[in-house]
Amino acid sequence: MAYQDFNMAHQWLPFTPNRSFQKDPRIFVAADGMHFTTHDGRQVLDGISSLWCVTAGHNRKPINEAIKKQLDTLDYATAFQASNDQAFKAAEMIAGMAPGDLNKVLFCNSGSEAADTSLKVALAYHRARGEGHRNVFIGREKGYHGVGFGGMSVGGIPANRKVYGAALLPRVDHMRFIHDPVHHAYINGEEPVWTEDLLLELENRILPLHDASNVAAIIVEPVSGSAGWYLPPQGYLKRLREICDKHGILLIFDEVITGFGRLGCNFGADYYGVVPDMLNFAKCVTNGVIPLGGVICTDRIFDTMMQANAGSPEYAIEFFHGYTYSGHPVACAAAIATLNLFKEENLFERAGQMGKLLGDAMHGGLKGLPNVVGIRALGLAGAVELSPLAGAPGKRAYDIFMDCFHHGVLVRPAGENIVICPPYIVEKEHIDQIVNVVGDAIRKNA
Ligand SMILES: Cc1ncc(COP(=O)(O)O)c(C=O)c1O
Repeated sequence: MAYQDFNMAHQWLPFTPNRSFQKDPRIFVAADGMHFTTHDGRQVLDGISSLWCVTAGHNRKPINEAIKKQLDTLDYATAFQASNDQAFKAAEMIAGMAPGDLNKVLFCNSGSEAADTSLKVALAYHRARGEGHRNVFIGREKGYHGVGFGGMSVGGIPANRKVYGAALLPRVDHMRFIHDPVHHAYINGEEPVWTEDLLLELENRILPLHDASNVAAIIVEPVSGSAGWYLPPQGYLKRLREICDKHGILLIFDEVITGFGRLGCNFGADYYGVVPDMLNFAKCVTNGVIPLGGVICTDRIFDTMMQANAGSPEYAIEFFHGYTYSGHPVACAAAIATLNLFKEENLFERAGQMGKLLGDAMHGGLKGLPNVVGIRALGLAGAVELSPLAGAPGKRAYDIFMDCFHHGVLVRPAGENIVICPPYIVEKEHIDQIVNVVGDAIRKNA
């Protein structure tokens, strides 16, 4: 199939340079295991789990079969004033995997919806407790929480924000970023130990500025994923938890990337030993096969919302929020099959083990190459950071990404980084292939 066979006049591609795409398109027509087949019959290794989603590998029969069976049984049922058996089962499994008293799952369809849902829960919860004045949100520079107005506002990636001006939520502040390129440019599986206390800024400047009693929630990704796999300093998340507790602020972990095994355990919350008040998930909960996202809330949040309505009639709705496809039975059937598959094949443990190989291969094979200024690896993911081309931010990483694609490996450009996050079924030879292809591309684009 030649790409001229496609009419490409009508799809406006997301987060993609549309003007240049058609000159050198990347079109997949099939996938199996670790590989895609392109429109022109080439095999391309999926080095990014298709944007952190396809963690169990492509074309997994148990997931496909569960979806087909569900389609023939209950294709869809309204999510409001009714529900379905698959949604209850999926929620039970997800809550069972989550730490602490994170027990109540509010389903949605994506990470962006999860972000907005969690922010809305925070406001509604505080109001239910009689603290409706708590309406300040705090995110972090370079954080990514999707593209809804809520997630974009607490997010901190400048390009995603810059054209929306006053349409962004008011009363949002951002903590400083968690990267020290001087002392912690190269990190392989360990937690960077900072001499400086990054959170003093939150305690001494941001909270007093807004008055801590006005702050509803702080939202962070345990590891900053979309920005380019930046790791928190040792003890950072624990201290963040303590600060939130001290001031009655809710802590939201956006685990759309770190959730379900990427760090070798269930959630980033488990890896760092910190239980948030809400935990957002999406992507690989269904192996990416069907959209599903959600927010896992603590019992305390749910109970407070119910108790606040104790005086209203029982038919009254307690939280005016939800999506037509919240808890879609086919998506939930896919999630149940995916979570079972993760367990049966011990895939989280495998992600942890293969992550060590990836970290070693990246540090061994890419450190010292031209323009490489940092490498960060943790769990089954890593990023190699490059010095920018003068006057052309992001171009070096983009050119390397394109070069890798032409040589049969899909990686992800993120700012000046190339990110590698393969499916958990990855083998050593795949890791070697990815790192070799990235290394060659870095040399060629020096
Ligand atoms: C941490 C995080 N939150 C939210 C999102 C947005 O998810 P979606 O694209 O499904 O809306 C992403 C997407 O990469 C993400 O990494």
